Amino acid sequence: LSSTFTAENEPMLDYAKGSPETAQLAETLEQYKNPADIPIVIGDEEIRTGPVQRQVAPFDHKRTVATFYHATPEILKKAIDSNMKARVDWERRPLQDRCDIFLRAADMISTERRMNLIATTMVGQAKNVYQAEIDATAELIDFLRFNVQFALSTTSYQPISTEPKVTLNSLVYRGLEGFWAAVCPFNFTAIGGNLPMAPAIMGNVALWKPSDTAVLSNYEAFKIYREAGLPPGVINFVPADGPTFGDTITASPHLAGINFTGSQATFKRIWRQVGENLDNFINFPRLIGECGGKNMHFVHPSADLDNVANNTVRSAFEYNGQKCSACSRLYVPESMWPKLKERILSILSEVKMGSPMDRENLVTAVIDAKAFARAKSYIDFAKSSRDLTILAGGKCDDSVGYFIEPTVIVSTDPKNKLMAEEIFAPILTVYVYPDKKMMETVELSKNTSPFALTGAIFVQDDAAKAQLTDAFRFHAGNFYINDKCTGSVVGQQPFGGTRQSGTNDKAGGPFYMTRFTSPQAIKETF
Ligand code: ALA
Repeated sequence: LSSTFTAENEPMLDYAKGSPETAQLAETLEQYKNPADIPIVIGDEEIRTGPVQRQVAPFDHKRTVATFYHATPEILKKAIDSNMKARVDWERRPLQDRCDIFLRAADMISTERRMNLIATTMVGQAKNVYQAEIDATAELIDFLRFNVQFALSTTSYQPISTEPKVTLNSLVYRGLEGFWAAVCPFNFTAIGGNLPMAPAIMGNVALWKPSDTAVLSNYEAFKIYREAGLPPGVINFVPADGPTFGDTITASPHLAGINFTGSQATFKRIWRQVGENLDNFINFPRLIGECGGKNMHFVHPSADLDNVANNTVRSAFEYNGQKCSACSRLYVPESMWPKLKERILSILSEVKMGSPMDRENLVTAVIDAKAFARAKSYIDFAKSSRDLTILAGGKCDDSVGYFIEPTVIVSTDPKNKLMAEEIFAPILTVYVYPDKKMMETVELSKNTSPFALTGAIFVQDDAAKAQLTDAFRFHAGNFYINDKCTGSVVGQQPFGGTRQSGTNDKAGGPFYMTRFTSPQAIKETF
């Protein structure tokens, strides 16, 4: 491995009917028919204690897919102690060795363990096979390989030594002095796998707190890291109740950083807790957060109508609008709306909803009862509001699983809460703007929501393209022109938002890895 090691994106399998991978997947899914019993793992020790927690299949909530346990404050303290012991050797271990372990993990996921990650993401997080492949294998493998590439390239910089043999300057890229807390979301297995792994590559130790609704797939990834050679204690797997976790990590003087993906409210809560404890920490903890969006597609009258319709349906409804990048508001010029509406409704009439086990279902169930209730409350609000008209969908049924029909709502008020608040469900709100008021609408759209994660413009006219691109320069960390605002690829579109969407550290890019090193500059004179 050298500093010029170049990663390549993992090719995706297509799971066509009758393909070998489809047969293999069917076999692997059988292994998860019965609930897995998932321990807390600290060092080499597996702990099963306290009330049994359950992860259920979102599309069939009577089915338990995993039982697991919440780490108590005492167990979390023990996990931190174990991290701190493991750190001593891990931080001294050459970067190349650390990289080798994670490249081995990438190879394992690419080959013999691929189906395990796909299956656990399908049954646990209700992704259909295509969405599971994008996330749990392709993106996770990409994170592993590209993080290695960026770890090697960003640490290859050495300062100049003015007079060789008289003065030697060097930068030693050390892990941070303490432990990291990786607080992981449910919606991407790859992000769960990335949040503790990226710091670990750079010589850090971490607690891995999976989301309670993604424990099964995250544990699978954790096991693979361990089998690939990750020493015990470098990453400890600690499902926990959120507030208990937050309280315990921020009470430790050794907290070095938090790598977080989740809600804005939770990130703010953690940030405040860090602030309150500042006098107790040995180092200033680094805070990295990716926390949601209210992402828009903005359509110019010159746009290609079919392109807008296809990409908007995919972006708003794939994985039920539960990608942080999902499009949830659409701005359309009046002159285009009648035709675009017809096209969107026609595509939508072909969209199927149901179990993720059926590859035909683009829309499955939202993650849990809370997500279902939240989505339903917005739909109920739309039913009772004069400013809102439900154009398609609107049915909610949680009798078997948490199903929310893909829903399109038109708002006559551009500032309606459905245009402003993150819903995280298959609900798209449309505002039809007067063609003459395009730039006014742009300005308004930018300040309707506090978020700035992803966004897209659809435009063929070159002057308008330049004008819109300039107008949105601070309003989407990931900005797309004539493409949907979901589907960033590691190494191609480093991912992260600004404003209330997060700290924009661009996971899947080179700068991300620099957050996990605390370089020491050494000058030696001879
Ligand atoms: N890579 C994911 C997307 O852009 C987050 O949809």
